[in-house]
Order: sequence, then structure tokens, then C-alpha cells
Amino acid sequence: MKKYLIITYGCQMNENDSEKISGMVEELGYSRTEDEKDADLIIMNTCSVRENANNRFFGNLGNFKKLKKKKPDLILAVCGCMMQEGHIVKKIKEKYSFVDIVFGTHNISSLPSLLEECDAKRKLIVEVLEDSDKLAEGLPVHRQFKHKAFVSIMKGCNNFCSYCIVPYTRGRERSREYQNILSEVRELANDGVKEVTLLGQNVNSYGKNLDDPVPFAKLLKMVSEVEGIERVRFMTSHPKDLSDELIEVIRDNPKICRHIHLPMQSGSSRILKLMNRHYDKDTYIKLVKKIRREIPDVAITTDIIVGFPTETEEDFLDTLDVYKKCEFDTAFTFIYSKREGTKAAVMDGQIDEKTVKDRFDRLLKLHDEIVLKQNKKYLNREVDILIDGKSKTNDNVLTGRTSSFKLVNFTGKGETGDIVKVKITDVHTFHLSGEVIE
Ligand code: SAH
Ligand code: SF4
Ligand code: F3S
Repeated sequence: MKKYLIITYGCQMNENDSEKISGMVEELGYSRTEDEKDADLIIMNTCSVRENANNRFFGNLGNFKKLKKKKPDLILAVCGCMMQEGHIVKKIKEKYSFVDIVFGTHNISSLPSLLEECDAKRKLIVEVLEDSDKLAEGLPVHRQFKHKAFVSIMKGCNNFCSYCIVPYTRGRERSREYQNILSEVRELANDGVKEVTLLGQNVNSYGKNLDDPVPFAKLLKMVSEVEGIERVRFMTSHPKDLSDELIEVIRDNPKICRHIHLPMQSGSSRILKLMNRHYDKDTYIKLVKKIRREIPDVAITTDIIVGFPTETEEDFLDTLDVYKKCEFDTAFTFIYSKREGTKAAVMDGQIDEKTVKDRFDRLLKLHDEIVLKQNKKYLNREVDILIDGKSKTNDNVLTGRTSSFKLVNFTGKGETGDIVKVKITDVHTFHLSGEVIE
């Protein structure tokens, strides 16, 4: 039997695409392997969001050159966001011509026919579409987990934040029909899935362009009503259009998880404007306060970019200030990375490395303090945990998440996919510890 290996970089969208790609190649008769020496087909699903993602990909790709020499029949396919960039495909053609297949984010469903073509030709095949109106429905899926699943509810992005490559790599925003989403969720529930995570670059604009518009809040409610689904998560929410209706739906519906990921990017109104984010410092803080007031046990997490072009010390202090005022449960912090083709890449005032590093370290210090403070609120509390499995480092310890997405390692009885009551006995920056209570 032929074997395939898939390597996925980047966000949950890519993970979800990889699950579909895996499903398709399994239908062609391949079985999965984690060992590259065993593989007849290697697929690399790439991310382009920051420079280091690109570097990691090219590093790994370079390593496969030797493997290809030893095993000339090995098929090497590369796909994902990086392949939507002309200069990347050019580089592959010129310097990595041992690659067999290049395809993009808009045509993952062509992989079976590309593989067929590849068998016949054995030379580099490139098929990248600039954009596509099609939403591939009903592709086979190899899911990573039995008890939880990703469901893409839309693709693309129309926001063009000035630093971001995603609108160029994923094309224009398109929402799936809610009927298709609901039937996918029902099928997942029949399959034993307890938790679904609805995915989109900006879920709050879901449904706006459908013939029969459906607001995201309504979709969320309908999904949470599917029998068998115990938990619903979603990401990501753009602060500019998070509606009151959405806050109410979450508040009134215990199956919807107590967690909102709300990327702020910067605390400075001036920088936010340059970033094309359509909100300012005050509206962001007010929004967070409103959410916390309406849904008291909610966790709010965020993304922050440090060192956007022209960022001054004063701008950066605004970021720290918002962090303190919003007391995020956690944050993903990034150093600004210049992406070719974006507006910010050609802005004057790129910030020097030393200044950025210093700001980044100060932000991390505040982050650690506040995260620990937020986690301490959980001490001695009883929480419901959906068990994800055994801890990687200790077979006697189980691991899972609270509704608010806190990672908890705990002792006691339970199986993957069970929801159990756990008492929190200790807290740390990156996880909580506890034990199951009968
Ligand atoms: N659609 C999501 C974000 C997807 S990208 C949203 O708008 O919230 C995930 C995160 O990567 C972004 O929130 C941003 O913080 C970060 N990011 C995107 N482009 C970046 C860049 N050029 N440099 C550094 N970080 C970036
Ligand atoms: Fe990128 Fe902004 Fe779209 Fe998010 S909303 S994917 S940050 S352009
Ligand atoms: Fe995701 Fe990276 Fe593409 S973050 S959308 S895989 S550029």
C-alpha cells in the first residue's frame, strides 16, 4: 500500500485544508505515515503570514532534496498560502525543481487529477488559481480528532489589514450556505463529535453576502442547537463588527464556549488607523468591557503585533495600556514581519530590530504577569473539562480544556471525549492543574 506524509504550517484553516487533502489521498488508496523515509507522497501545506513561516518551509523543502535523490519515485507536492505568491512559485521552479506538484489554496480538490497527471508526466506541474468563487463542498475528510472538529464556515478575507498577506493568499471572502454547514455539523455529531470550532478569518462578517443573508449570531445559535454537540467555539472575531446580538447569543447559550479571541493588533489609535483596522483604542477597550460585563466568566484572548512601521514608544505604551485595562487571558504576540505586496511593506519608518526586540520583551513580561493573575482566579474552582487525551509527558495525567479554553492537566478517571468535573488545585502561566471530582 502506498503511503503519504503531510506537513502543515500555519493556522486552523490550513489544518482543516490538510484534513481534506488527507481525506482525498486516502480515497486514492494512500495510508498515512509520520516517517518521511516510508512515504511515497509528501505534501507540504504552507503558511505565508510571517517571514519565519516561509523560512521553515524552505529549510524543510531543502532537506527533501536528498530523499528525492535516493527515492526518485517519491512525489513531492507543495500547496497552501505561499503558493499563491508568484515570487514563491518562481523560486521553486528555479531552485527547487525537484518538486513535482505545486497547487494553491483555491484548488485543493484538484489534487487527485494532478497526481494522475504527475504519474504520466513526471515533471513539475503547477496549478495555482488566482481566486475562485467555488466553495468545495462534500470533500472527504481525515479528521485529526474523534471528539472535536473544525468546520470552515467561510473562506477568504476582504479586510486588507495593511500588514497582512491573507487577503492575497486566500482571495475574496465567501460564506458557505448555512444549510451546508448545519448538515456537516449534524454528520459530525452522528460521528461522536462533541465540540466544533467554526472557522473564518472574520466570522463576524459571516453570511453578509449570501443571497439569503444570515448573521453569524444566528448561525452560532443554530449550530449549538444540533443534538449531540456539547460545545461550540469560533475564531476569529474582528473587533470592528462584533455585534450585540452575538454577545447575547453567547451569554444565553451555555453550549457556546466562554472564550472570544479578539485580535487587537495594537493599542495605539494612530497605528490602528495605519493598519486599516477600523476601530480605535477606546472603542476596543469599551468592547472588551461590554463583553466582560455581559458574560462574566468569559476569557478574552488577543493577537498583538509589535514594531509596525512608524510605531513610537508612545504608541507602544498604548499597547501596554490596553493590555492592562483589558486583562487578557492570554495573547499571541508577534514581531511585525514585512510581507511583499502588502501596503505596510512599502511604508516609511520600518522599526529597527533592537527597538522591536526590547518592546517585545517588555510586552511578554506584562503578558506573563496578567495571564498568571487571570489564571489565579481559577484556583479551587470546579470546571467542566472536555478531555483531549493523556498528557504528552505523563501517562497518568489527563489533559483538556475548560469552556474558556484554559489548558488543564489533571488526575482522575476519564476517556478522551468525556466531559468531566475537575477541581483546580494549582495554576501556572501556561496551564492549570487539578483533579477529577466524582
Ligand atoms: N484573520 C485573523 C488573523 C489571521 S493571521 C484576524 O484578523 O484576527 C493571525 C495573526 O497573525 C494576526 O492576528 C496578526 O496578529 C498576525 N499577523 C498577520 N500578519 C502579520 C505580519 N505581517 N507580521 C506580524 N504578524 C502578523
Ligand atoms: Fe489578515 Fe486582517 Fe483579514 Fe485578519 S482580518 S486575515 S489580519 S487582513
Ligand atoms: Fe493561515 Fe498562514 Fe494562510 S495563517 S490563512 S495558513 S498565511
